[in-house]
Amino acid sequence: MKSLSRSEWTLLACIMVYSFIPAVGGLIRVLELAGGPAIAPENPRALSDPFPITLHILTSFLFCIVGALLFLPSIRRHHRATHRAVGRIIVIAGGISAASGLWMTHTYVFPGDLQGNLLYWVRMVLGSLMIGLIVWAVIAIRSRNVFQHSASMLRAYAIGQGASTQAILGIGWIVIVGSEAMGSMRDGLMVFAWGLNLLVAEVLIRRLL
Ligand code: HEM
Repeated sequence: MKSLSRSEWTLLACIMVYSFIPAVGGLIRVLELAGGPAIAPENPRALSDPFPITLHILTSFLFCIVGALLFLPSIRRHHRATHRAVGRIIVIAGGISAASGLWMTHTYVFPGDLQGNLLYWVRMVLGSLMIGLIVWAVIAIRSRNVFQHSASMLRAYAIGQGASTQAILGIGWIVIVGSEAMGSMRDGLMVFAWGLNLLVAEVLIRRLL
């Protein structure tokens, strides 16, 4: 990693800070489900069906944190074997993260305040799209289409990082309004966060790729 430039270290640090809440909050949940202290807000769905959420948290952690390495130009250019090895892990982790997200969306019993129709359908569509984009990125790189490969991975990453934007918007809402967003307002904020991430991904694709 000696060859990383200053701006790449800065990018990595920004992604780590940005991903901090869902990444660390998720690991705290996994510890709780493994018998540790209950620090995270109560989640009865996780307690009654811990397998998909544990799988989801661990694979999402890999996808968001380790996946950041895939976007560093010097690793892409000078350490191709590392890029390929990390890429394989991330493709599997991202696929399982999205599939377990879909599984929970459909099978967990949510109170209306935490998941209404809008959030249900957006989760189903974006979770499926994330899997499709990862598969498309693999197909593209096998045909040596680097632009399509990078653009698809960036779009999939933007969907995955929706969890971070949702956490930040959720906290911002509490700070401004004084209470947690619930019901259709919460659904709207979650969907808005994904929309924002996808918009940023499109801007980056047009400017940087
Ligand atoms: C790849 C990035 C993602 C990260 C870092 C992430 C993070 C998390 C975390 C930490 C939890 C546990 C929340 C808790 O402990 O209460 C969770 C739950 C969940 N995630 Fe994700 N997630 C990601 C992607 C997705 C996607 C793409 C979907 C949509 C298909 C999704 C749907 C869900 C659902 C339905 C739950 C259960 C929520 C609940 O029971 O309240 N996640 N996610």
